[in-house]
Amino acid sequence: MPWVIRDVVDDINKAVTKRWRHLDPLLPEPSDPPEGCMPPLLALGDNGRPSGLGVCRHQYVAADTLAQTWGAATKFVLSMRLRGPDIQAAADDLLTQWCDHLTGQPAARKDDTAAVVNWPARDVTGVPALLRHGLQPLTVIAVRPAGRPSPADRPSPADRPSPADRPSTQPGLVIRPAGLDDLDAVAELELGVVRYDANFGGSIPRPATEALVRAETRAALAKRPGWTWLAEQDGQPVALTVVEPPAAATWIAGMTRTGATAYLQTMFVRPDERGGGIGAALVRHVHGVLDARGIDLTLLHYSQVNPLSPPFWHRMGYRPLWSTWEARPAATLR
Ligand SMILES: CC(C)(COP(=O)(O)OP(=O)(O)OC[C@H]1O[C@@H](n2cnc3c(N)ncnc32)[C@H](O)[C@@H]1OP(=O)(O)O)[C@@H](O)C(=O)NCCC(=O)NCCS
Repeated sequence: MPWVIRDVVDDINKAVTKRWRHLDPLLPEPSDPPEGCMPPLLALGDNGRPSGLGVCRHQYVAADTLAQTWGAATKFVLSMRLRGPDIQAAADDLLTQWCDHLTGQPAARKDDTAAVVNWPARDVTGVPALLRHGLQPLTVIAVRPAGRPSPADRPSPADRPSPADRPSTQPGLVIRPAGLDDLDAVAELELGVVRYDANFGGSIPRPATEALVRAETRAALAKRPGWTWLAEQDGQPVALTVVEPPAAATWIAGMTRTGATAYLQTMFVRPDERGGGIGAALVRHVHGVLDARGIDLTLLHYSQVNPLSPPFWHRMGYRPLWSTWEARPAATLR
């Protein structure tokens, strides 16, 4: 990195560290921005000093990976570091430059593409700039620090019995770790999430999705026994939770502060079993195990407009950490 850029990065990172700590203690310390497709874009403040930098990365997601089921085949990802105080102006400047850059990229004119920005969820002042450039808030990365009591566990003054007053174990409900013998049931419940999330653009089912889900499920059950749980009602599998342990969650752990970080990959309750407490019972059980295993932080994704999962996760003790904004296809960025 040339020294001028190095100086700018250090200077901006110092300011961003302070801002992020103040905004949200669960954000990470900003590290060096990733290697981009070109030198970083710079926004200049009124005083001529850099007020922000942005790094663009082009990601080509292979068709034979499940990652292509969870997003566009080609992603252009902008990582921004904004020093403030005028976050909106700095974001606006970088997004305008980024849009010009993508306009010159033939790959960005294809259909199966997305322009993607991860944004600290509590950094609300820059949101109008994201909207102005045609980005939509598609997904949220939510976080739960270990031991955080969920609202569902706190006493409620309302007359309506709170979830805390409801039995956490339902009659006939058995929660147990899944094994390779459960492959069919686990893969089918995994596919349930893919199909449901497709309603919100969270997933994009592909011709290879079913086979890939089955293969990855088999591999996970074999490699990581004890991190997949099934809930059975009267002997029938009705719900699934899958967690990636810290060693498998390094791809996302850097989105939060340092600590043993797990990723809750899958949560699904069969449609006719929802709303009766099975999801809450399963997640409470899994949280107990994660807390006992020394997990400090658990991350998960949910789709912003999924009507079921955001309220559910908030009641289970999770809250937004990052929001992911996308323009699909990438050419709709403006
Ligand atoms: C999100 C999901 C996992 C929640 O599971 P669930 O079993 O329906 O959840 P619960 O029943 O435990 O809780 C949901 C509601 O039932 C209530 N509830 C909890 N225990 C209850 C009980 N014993 N009796 C009655 N209601 C209960 C909850 O308080 C909540 O009520 P609300 O509608 O007032 O918010 C489920 O809806 C689902 O699989 N959705 C589709 C897939 C999905 O979105 N997955 C998550 C992707 S991130």
